[in-house]
Amino acid sequence: MAAPFYVTTPIYYVNARPHLGHAYTTIAADVVRRFHAMSSDQTYFLTGTDEHGDKIVRAAKKENRTPREYVDQISGLFRKLWPELNISNDYFIRTTDPAHMAVVETILQRIYDAGDIYFSEYEGLYCFGCERFYTERELVDGCCPDHQTPPEIIKESNYFFRMSRYQQWLIDHINQHPDFIRPERYRNEVLAFLREPLEDLCISRPKSRIKWGINLPFDADYVTYVWFDALLNYVSALGYPDGELYKTYWPVAQHIVAKDILKPHGIYWPIMLKAAGIPVYQHLNVHGYWNVDQSKMSKSIGNVVEPLEMKDVYGLDAFRFFLMRDMAFGLDSNFSEEALVQRINADLANDLGNLFSRVISMAHKYFGGVVPEPDPDVEKEMDLGLENHSRVAIDAYAASMGDFAFHKGLAAVWEFITHMNKYVDVTAPWVLAKNKAARKQLETVIYNLLEGLRIISGLIYPVMPDTAVKVQKHLGFSGDDDFFKLDRLTTWTGVKPGVKLRKSIALFPRIDLEKKQPQPVERAATPIMDIPIKPEITIEDFAKIDLRVATVVSAQAVPRAKKLIQLEVDLGETRTIVSGIAGSYAPEDLVGKQVIVVANLKPAKLMGVLSKGMLLAATDKGGVNVATMDHSVTPGTPLS
Ligand code: MSP
Repeated sequence: MAAPFYVTTPIYYVNARPHLGHAYTTIAADVVRRFHAMSSDQTYFLTGTDEHGDKIVRAAKKENRTPREYVDQISGLFRKLWPELNISNDYFIRTTDPAHMAVVETILQRIYDAGDIYFSEYEGLYCFGCERFYTERELVDGCCPDHQTPPEIIKESNYFFRMSRYQQWLIDHINQHPDFIRPERYRNEVLAFLREPLEDLCISRPKSRIKWGINLPFDADYVTYVWFDALLNYVSALGYPDGELYKTYWPVAQHIVAKDILKPHGIYWPIMLKAAGIPVYQHLNVHGYWNVDQSKMSKSIGNVVEPLEMKDVYGLDAFRFFLMRDMAFGLDSNFSEEALVQRINADLANDLGNLFSRVISMAHKYFGGVVPEPDPDVEKEMDLGLENHSRVAIDAYAASMGDFAFHKGLAAVWEFITHMNKYVDVTAPWVLAKNKAARKQLETVIYNLLEGLRIISGLIYPVMPDTAVKVQKHLGFSGDDDFFKLDRLTTWTGVKPGVKLRKSIALFPRIDLEKKQPQPVERAATPIMDIPIKPEITIEDFAKIDLRVATVVSAQAVPRAKKLIQLEVDLGETRTIVSGIAGSYAPEDLVGKQVIVVANLKPAKLMGVLSKGMLLAATDKGGVNVATMDHSVTPGTPLS
């Protein structure tokens, strides 16, 4: 019987478009699901969007849309992106789905009836970015550690979930199940939190403040949302409480999240499950953060990388490979185009690509592109431990992939690739080919190399499914999933003698960053077609925006911020404006230019520099294009 395997990603907030961070977690879930499918497990993979809360209402308002219109659009962008990244989730849940909302109400009622939800007045420091209250102790310099903004004081009567009642139970559970939260550093972090008394969790908002949530079944004046709503998606998506999927998959649930939401998943969620009488999940797998330009990437800082851009420039499989290989699961990692190119050139073009083209070309040159028959008698003498190396690699790979240590799993495969390349050098088929008496040796060597390629194609399949199929087809197979089953990889006789091979191709051409046209860093977040015209406004609405012509007096790069330029502009007075245009402009190109500035925009700090206004620009595939005037105009002249 196939073992069930259930993996989930966080459901992403729809107040921002999908970015690299979301893509990483969802690709990781896809990789681990594919790995389990290779091991003949019966898999289920869930992702989705988190659509309630005042953060969403505010984002919708900013775009002059209703929350419903807004969540439909952004959730659609996530749903459209996943297949483009070769992500094959089984289901996409939305917290606005009526079936999900019904499950939330049922579970809330159950916990309320059990006496674990109570009503009380609360005053606290609330971060709207995180949608949660902070204690003084958690703030850094009086600000939210994630958003670097001061929290607001909020006082209201609300419903609270009695988490404190389950604190000792959770500590015991974690101690009894050492890999409940992994890697270990995050388990320790949760245990450290639990050393302090656990505060009860506020789970409601009055409808007078916000309506965009799920009704509390026991009080019509309140909605619940954020964690009590969002976390329950993991069971509602399976048809809790009676669904077949729920019965099969919930007992083996594994979540993947980044460290930002460790506390809700490591503390609130198991306690909610316990209070609702639902068994807890099996593992919480926590990864680190991708940093861009050394700063954490998030929607509020605004330095997000559009994943589609990188995959379009360098290829989807290379992009997936980089993400899985460069981040040690659990630790932070830096994302840069240079690091991506380096990885592609070293691991993909050099090691894997060269091996593939060398082996296929030799099979064509010496055997007319037909798989030769290995000779069992010379096999022993010509094997040189290759089969054994493949076994070692498969074992190390399987152990690491099952534990979410993708970087280690891939390193094991690359160790085998190194052995394969050495095998070519040591056996020197080009020398054997010159000696008629060594024909059997040559046949066996080329057979072994083709077999090694088959095994490599299987091992890279979860991370680079397209490349795996390409290699498989070159070896005369059809490319169906069965080919990649782990038990097939452990048999050293998969390639069939007599089968015709396809001609060699460059799997991953080398990239020369010097010759390559520099890619504009800042691009349209979504294809133009996906950006709908905003809802109609009146001339009075438009008149609120003070647009002015300004002349750039001086410009300089903002230290440690790849995309930002600090400009001094003259618009009747001198102003400092920070603009994210460094990917397309050098500071000296801007001096003397007349630009258009939103002069009455609320000032904002970008990388420590206060920007008083915003420059208008259009961003498309070609990069950023600053809007300018047709003829010279007196600085400060308003636009209308
Ligand atoms: N809606 C909540 C989650 C509810 S789950 C029941 C939420 N949404 S989010 O849109 O902010 O997504 C957070 C998750 O996105 C992280 O936990 C991680 O999976 C992914 N990432 C966002 N930024 C990231 C990085 N910079 N690096 C890696 N992953 C990150 O929190």
